[in-house]
Amino acid sequence: MSMNSADLINNAEKEWVWNETPLLKVRGLSKQFGAGCIHCKQPTSDEQEGSRCQYCGSIWACRNLSFDLYPGEILGVVGESGSGKSTLVKCLYFDEETTVGEMSISSYEDKTSNLFEKSAQQKRYIRNHVMGMVYQNPLLGLRMPISSSGNIAEKLFAADHYHVGSIRQRAADLLQKVEIPLARMDEPPKNFSGGMQQRVQISKALANNPPLLLLDEVTTGLDLSVQAKVLDLIRNIQRELRVAMIVVSHDLGVIRMLADRTMVLRQGLIVEQGLTDQILEDPRHPYTQLLVHSLL
Ligand SMILES: Nc1ncnc2c1ncn2[C@@H]1O[C@H](COP(=O)(O)OP(=O)(O)OP(=O)(O)O)[C@@H](O)[C@H]1O
Ligand SMILES: [Mg+2]
Ligand SMILES: [Zn+2]
Repeated sequence: MSMNSADLINNAEKEWVWNETPLLKVRGLSKQFGAGCIHCKQPTSDEQEGSRCQYCGSIWACRNLSFDLYPGEILGVVGESGSGKSTLVKCLYFDEETTVGEMSISSYEDKTSNLFEKSAQQKRYIRNHVMGMVYQNPLLGLRMPISSSGNIAEKLFAADHYHVGSIRQRAADLLQKVEIPLARMDEPPKNFSGGMQQRVQISKALANNPPLLLLDEVTTGLDLSVQAKVLDLIRNIQRELRVAMIVVSHDLGVIRMLADRTMVLRQGLIVEQGLTDQILEDPRHPYTQLLVHSLL
């Protein structure tokens, strides 16, 4: 893969960025679905062993995941269907309860404590103030019957912004950023195309100026041309606002376009992680090799 000068500048920037303290630290995150039994009390790190317990059918959807995310960085998460990608971001966003593990966010006032152990009320505060989430299914991220501007206003209220005039201006700015025509800002997302809905979701997720944005399969199911537009938009947002992002996709092409570093999941385990360029050029794990070769 050849590098152009923009990439080189980007790489210089990346090195500088990575000297900072991580924004997000995750250690030993594991998530089990099901009641579990004596045979599956602990998640194993054995790649040969599947994530599903053969005795009780419980699944360790995420097994012992540890990683850092730096301010302004994009971390890609790739892996086949069922590898635990959505479960991971849902755990980080407190949509799912994490079974074991630690998470800290340096921009949150309580920098070092384990956020998974906070009360429901504190978790809600953290979600509303330092995180944004874009779901694969826009039905989960948007209230379809209320206006697009109303959707954004809701997120702003949740983050303690109450000034109606400035909320309206902020909604207009955000929708403009994602290229929703101002004339349509009061239309409900249910009137919009899939690509437009994803763009409204992105603007809503950005409303509270979060340092951390989670994006789950944001372009899956969109036409190729619409995909390209949404990916472009995400890159621009990252450059302009320097939001750190976790980008989940089963599509290595999306990861290649967006991610500085990449983590490859399989059956809930990280089988490989590193610089995206390195993983694409010289994948070490047989599973990653398979993924990369199917991309070529
Ligand atoms: N609510 C749930 N209850 C039980 N099992 C679940 C639940 N959600 C996910 N799982 C299981 O956890 C594993 C990981 O699922 P997850 O949705 O995280 O995968 P994914 O990598 O996002 O897949 P995809 O690419 O298809 O979206 C799967 O085996 C799945 O069946
Ligand atoms: Mg998923
Ligand atoms: Zn079991």
